[in-house]
Amino acid sequence: MPKSTHYKGLIDRYRDRLPVDSATPIVSLTEGDTPLIKLVNLPSLIGKSVEMYVKFDGQNPTGSFKDRGMTMAVSKAAEKGAKAIVCASTGNTSAAAAAYAARAGMTAFVLIPEGKIPMGKLAQAIAHGAVVLQIRGNFDDGMRLVKEVAEQAPVEIVNSINPFRLQGQKTAAFEIVEALGRAPDYHCIPVGNAGNISGYWIGYSEACGKNTASCTLCNGDCPYLDNPLTTSRPVMVGYQAAGAAPFLRGAPVEAPETVATAIRIGNPQSWDLAQAAVDESEGWFDEVTDEEILTTHSLLASREGIFCEPASAVSVCGAMRDLKNGKIPEGSLVTCTVTGHGLKDTAIAIERAEPVKTVDAELGSVKEAILSHIS
Ligand code: F0G
Repeated sequence: MPKSTHYKGLIDRYRDRLPVDSATPIVSLTEGDTPLIKLVNLPSLIGKSVEMYVKFDGQNPTGSFKDRGMTMAVSKAAEKGAKAIVCASTGNTSAAAAAYAARAGMTAFVLIPEGKIPMGKLAQAIAHGAVVLQIRGNFDDGMRLVKEVAEQAPVEIVNSINPFRLQGQKTAAFEIVEALGRAPDYHCIPVGNAGNISGYWIGYSEACGKNTASCTLCNGDCPYLDNPLTTSRPVMVGYQAAGAAPFLRGAPVEAPETVATAIRIGNPQSWDLAQAAVDESEGWFDEVTDEEILTTHSLLASREGIFCEPASAVSVCGAMRDLKNGKIPEGSLVTCTVTGHGLKDTAIAIERAEPVKTVDAELGSVKEAILSHIS
């Protein structure tokens, strides 16, 4: 009989490196184990020799990296006997919360900024049966309200201020180290609420047996450092959209605005943890404009076959610029997290494209249309 190789999700895979035990009811959609895709065309566009990979976390069950954190947050909520969870979201957290709550038999309450999340993400929350509350405000207002309401109603917060979220998200770093056989030299990542960069840094740190101030769970006494996977950590580089770049301004941004709606956030909750990740790794934050984001979004799709949402293109966009200007040296091994799938936000891809051509349903017209593109 062949040995079963059925992958059962990241808690099963990394049980010995996660705060779960036999009493934790695991709520999983078989998340994690996402592809690390080598870029074959983009590096040559900037004329640099570099080994560059995309960790395509848009290939998680609900189409974003949030599933990594949500399997942990909802499993731990179930362990406590919670019946309901709540989050504020720019769309992906609400989609993931809705799906995992559905599976766990819980109610998900999701607060989203009215008119500012793509239809794909709204459809997910609705389809999975979440109670969707559109607020006349932005993500930061939603986050404040979630914290207030959780004091007065029996609901478990599943935003990344819940430390179990970052524990799940750290597993992406383990997967990268295992896939490459070492840590990358640079890890580039979009930054919104600043949870994911913090989660990655916890993961990379634990993978090489080091503690980090980004981990708040075990107060500096991490039980998972005994079995390192590698010997080094990458430099962490966090990129923000220019209209929503509090780390670059050095203060919260009052009215954040960007085409990358997923990171339209002015007051990141994991500010200190993300700052610690960048400081400890001797990395940096930088910003990219909406135009640069959309250019990379379209290059990833049209030159690499990787269709992501705009916020996800931010990592590759920043990395390409920093490679071009030499801040990331040629010859480096670079990984970029691509956080969410392009099918979440099809409107933006179609808006920017040439109108789709319509032809008569006969051979002459079809042949003419094809030949006009081949010459
Ligand atoms: N990329 C995507 C596609 C996201 O959805 C988010 C965050 C980020 C990047 C930034 O990650 O917040 O950990 O720094 N989305 C949250 C949401 C805020 O509600 O879906 P972060």
